[in-house]
Amino acid sequence: MKPGKTYSIRLKFMYNLTEGLDGFYLSTYKDKDGQVRTLATTHFEPTSARKAFPCFDEPQLKAKFLITITHSRSLQSFSNMPKKEESDVRGKNDQVRSEFMESLEMSTYLVAFVVCDFDIIEKKTDSNVTIRVIAAHDKISQAKFALDQAVQITQNYERYFGIPFPLPKQDLIAIPDFEAGAMENWGLITYRETALLNEEGVSSSLDTQWVAVVIAHELAHQWFGNLVTMQWWNDLWLNEGFASWMEYKGVDEVEPDWKMMDQFWINEVEPALDLDSLQSSHPISVQVQEPSEISALFDYISYRKGASIIHMLEQFLGEEHLRKGLEIYLKKNKFKNTVTKDLWNACTEATNNTKDVMGMMNTWTLQMGYPLIIFSRIGNSSVWNITQSRFLLAGQLNGTNSSLPASPYNYKWNVPVSFKTNLGHSREILLGSKDNDTSKVVTLDEKIKWIKGNTDGVGFYRVNYPTQIWTMLINQLNTDLSVFSGADRAQLIDDAFSLCMAGLLPVSVPVSLSTYLVKETDLVPWKIALRHLKSWKALLSDGPGGSAVDAFISFLVENIYKKLGWFEAGTHEQRLLRTVVLSAAVDAGLKDAVDRSKQIFTDVMDNQSKISSELQGFVYCTGVREGGEEEWNWIFKKYISTNIPAEKSHFLKALACSKDIFTLQRFLDKTLDKSQIRHQDVKSVLTSTAMNPAGTLLAWRQYRKFWDRYNKMFGDGMTNMGNIGAGIISTFSSSFDLEQVEDFFEKHETGGGKRAIDQAVEKIKVNIRFVELSAESVVGEVNIIVNRRKNLA
Ligand code: BES
Ligand code: ZN
Repeated sequence: MKPGKTYSIRLKFMYNLTEGLDGFYLSTYKDKDGQVRTLATTHFEPTSARKAFPCFDEPQLKAKFLITITHSRSLQSFSNMPKKEESDVRGKNDQVRSEFMESLEMSTYLVAFVVCDFDIIEKKTDSNVTIRVIAAHDKISQAKFALDQAVQITQNYERYFGIPFPLPKQDLIAIPDFEAGAMENWGLITYRETALLNEEGVSSSLDTQWVAVVIAHELAHQWFGNLVTMQWWNDLWLNEGFASWMEYKGVDEVEPDWKMMDQFWINEVEPALDLDSLQSSHPISVQVQEPSEISALFDYISYRKGASIIHMLEQFLGEEHLRKGLEIYLKKNKFKNTVTKDLWNACTEATNNTKDVMGMMNTWTLQMGYPLIIFSRIGNSSVWNITQSRFLLAGQLNGTNSSLPASPYNYKWNVPVSFKTNLGHSREILLGSKDNDTSKVVTLDEKIKWIKGNTDGVGFYRVNYPTQIWTMLINQLNTDLSVFSGADRAQLIDDAFSLCMAGLLPVSVPVSLSTYLVKETDLVPWKIALRHLKSWKALLSDGPGGSAVDAFISFLVENIYKKLGWFEAGTHEQRLLRTVVLSAAVDAGLKDAVDRSKQIFTDVMDNQSKISSELQGFVYCTGVREGGEEEWNWIFKKYISTNIPAEKSHFLKALACSKDIFTLQRFLDKTLDKSQIRHQDVKSVLTSTAMNPAGTLLAWRQYRKFWDRYNKMFGDGMTNMGNIGAGIISTFSSSFDLEQVEDFFEKHETGGGKRAIDQAVEKIKVNIRFVELSAESVVGEVNIIVNRRKNLA
């Protein structure tokens, strides 16, 4: 070829539809009459477009796509763009040739096409975009909620971004076999059935919320990701972090009563803080080359930490400045590619160059981890010192060095630190990453009793205080908790437990802090407290700690348990809370809760009575746990026969609750037969079985025994294998188990799954230390409280 000349290339390419879950693949489902039907669908992100057609399969090489599909006349086809025309195929009467309109400039990973026999419902937005929801014939009645949400969210986004949706139509399609939750293909978004379909009265509030959240996430990508795309995968966080943040704004605007912004902290910030406290974490921006390295980037750091730092930035700049920054960024770069710096520059422009956004944000994207902000008082004076140091869960564990691996900012951050005091002062100060700037001295009123840092948990950091201040905070929670927002209370709980896990606070602090929960009625503090207490229970269940923690949980939840009751009522938040509290009560063995749960199960199984949608998850689980083969088989039959995806997933999780190891083994073995359990659900079966104490070791054995088969099933460079493995082992807490883990992974290559395994191993080491050092004090501390309460009664 000669330089400077344009060549056109014509390639003939043959490809068999595969049975995996990426590329151009085959999916099947049964219709109402039990007939198996097939469809062909695509999933390309990140590097599977090349499996379906020859292409320069990199995000920065955008092109316009002209797609034509020849298929059976009895089927329909869909692609990114609307159909231009359908024509006959010479000599083949039963076939038709569907030609789609030419696409806009776009990346290969966003191309999609589906051939199927589904049904459609549709509606137009105010701006004349046709939104369609597409699903199998006997599921289309569950599509209405998604359609309404998609229309409203699209309209709101057009306003928020200041840019109309650029395609004439938007399809949302429910695919029966689908690896991820959903995929944002431009104009043809593909969904797992549970992420798109909703059945009123059967889907729980959380199931319904999930549908709205996933729709809001994928629609956000239509602008942020599709119209403007990262240059290369090292900036994947731009896509996923942004969409994970926008999910909440998107749903919040349509469903203001759902309190989405409160849930942001517990769903996004907290899990990211948890993972990013490991030395084996990674910076948001990392160099990647291999497909397996790219796959491994779809993790909590890109999604949740990414979302968290955008949230922090919004607070720092103000809502309108950030929005304006996004608008500038999108308009300037539409149909093009960007790097992280382009977003920061647009934000600076939006503030009229008054804020150095890049200077601040680089410390968050180019180094891993986050700071612990320490408030200390000079004597009893009015002078306070506020300083930062990297927070590591492994703390002083052997081999942990808080300055490794090297960081360009030496693990110092530009961090806006907010705080308030019992005298009602709220303030914000800025700590810097440069040597003279990393800590600050402030003078406050001498009469201050307590100080609470990180107002509403907006900052991506943890806070520690002198012992005396912790005591005052705990007193305040016990006397009048309303001076703190729910988010503040949740964060106090989370910091206390996490600092304790890191060896920086004694067990007595999280335990005595938790006692205020008897007065707590908000969802988020409850969720976080129970998350930590359940993890204590899992770690201590080899000794007397497990039952001591159960007694403690039973004591804490008693009030709220009585208050909420068993009937479906109240706001969205109260419904979510009811599920959380009742299931915790059942798990902790609160007698009344176990009995009622068993009774409801019996009524449903024997008399076919209807179960409240919010209760089904843990009631089915209790039924299986307390029951025998008959109960298990009954649930399995329901699992196979229901055509409501939300319900199906509750049944599947319940099947993992059995106490009988033979039953559990039979269940695990079904993952090897895709006519019984779809490949898309294998991950959930293995991890939910591992979460059942009776199943942990079985799942671990199964995972090792069938390593090769599972690995072949996923085919994403072992990222899934890493995530599943990590899910199974991360509650291990003995040196014996650790040795087995290390031994196995020494002999088995883990490719893109390596980081997840390294992180789990680091967690296990922290667990071991916790059990060694703190098991006894946990039992001692919680017993004091439980006994004091018994004596009072
Ligand atoms: N782009 C992703 C889908 C994806 C995930 C592709 C992993 C390749 C590998 C999509 O936008 C996404 O993030 N989906 C989420 C749902 C969301 C609500 C967090 C998912 O699939 O879990
Ligand atoms: Zn996404």
